[in-house]
Amino acid sequence: MPVIKTIAEQSEQMTEWRRHLHAHPEIAFEEHETAAFIAARLEEWGIEVRRGIAGTGVIGTLTSGEGPAIGLRADMDALAIHETNAIPHRSVRAGCMHACGHDGHMAMLLGAARYLSKSKKFKGTVHLIFQPAEENEGGGRVMVEQGMFDEFPMTAIYGMHNWPGLPAGRFAVRPGPIMAAFDLFEITIVGKGAHAAMPHLGVDPVLAGSAIVTALQSITSRATDPLEAAVVSVTQFHAGDTWNVIPERAVLRGTVRALTPEVQDKVEMTLYRVVESIAAGHGAGARVHYERRYPPTINDPAEAENAAKAAATVVGESHVEQDRQPSMGSEDFAFMLEKKPGSYIWIGNGSVEGGCTLHNPRYDFNDTILPLGASYWASLVESRLA
Ligand code: NI
Repeated sequence: MPVIKTIAEQSEQMTEWRRHLHAHPEIAFEEHETAAFIAARLEEWGIEVRRGIAGTGVIGTLTSGEGPAIGLRADMDALAIHETNAIPHRSVRAGCMHACGHDGHMAMLLGAARYLSKSKKFKGTVHLIFQPAEENEGGGRVMVEQGMFDEFPMTAIYGMHNWPGLPAGRFAVRPGPIMAAFDLFEITIVGKGAHAAMPHLGVDPVLAGSAIVTALQSITSRATDPLEAAVVSVTQFHAGDTWNVIPERAVLRGTVRALTPEVQDKVEMTLYRVVESIAAGHGAGARVHYERRYPPTINDPAEAENAAKAAATVVGESHVEQDRQPSMGSEDFAFMLEKKPGSYIWIGNGSVEGGCTLHNPRYDFNDTILPLGASYWASLVESRLA
């Protein structure tokens, strides 16, 4: 079975949904029209719908005979980016666009939902999870906190994201970590203001901050096992207002990424130590605010295998990569995988030419892969709930 025939036949319809959603993007937790659009489609096909979980989240439930329950998850939110594409379906909302392909993710899950509601070639229950606020706000975490898994018990959960640069017609999945943990930090260095010509009368937080920026890079190069991945990026450095004054304080902000909770712990601990000791060495004080946003996205090995097999039934084994490196980007599907075994797969979105990369103002989801993604969902359900 390559692409499922009845799914291929609804390609045009899926493209229409996808382009409608693309033209009408909504930002995290504001996906009201999007949720209404999805709920209306699901109800049209006789699927039971639960609205309002995590604010704008929608869950459709489809049962066919006796069997276990699984969840399929798509994300719904757009980004605060102004679209620069000149395409007929470009965003009608200034400063807001689907630049991560969540429009395509919804259309693929809708396509699968419609097919499954008619064919019912499975025994058990499928929860079609449309999750708000994947970007920055952790809508996935909120769904879990609001008791999604109590209200909708399931044995496994699956996610899918398009991947620009991975050719269309290919999938990639791997056991273990596939996306990184995402932490934030803010470091306030407190010195003593002085005349810039009399530095010995003050404590310079700019110099201390500069030493901290440099020393933080020793965390990845010296405190982390060279065979483990970690990133420490200082992305903001704020201090001072004029030329001839040494300011009182400097603020550094940035992000940490790691693929395992162990490395994440090590980086955090080392960051505190480096900041405090370097600041002290300069006679300055330092305060660290460290915040864990998303855990690493870790695939269950058996479920990654199930996902790979389902993808192989659609595109053939040779088009499913199982040894691709993880990404140091992050994903709030991680919160769901912390609670349930499951897996997260990438579907090739094709060429990155013309700026078609995630979070780029010239990104657009590749409509030719809609039937592949929908067929993947359908074959996953038909194989897991056989
Ligand atoms: Ni995304």
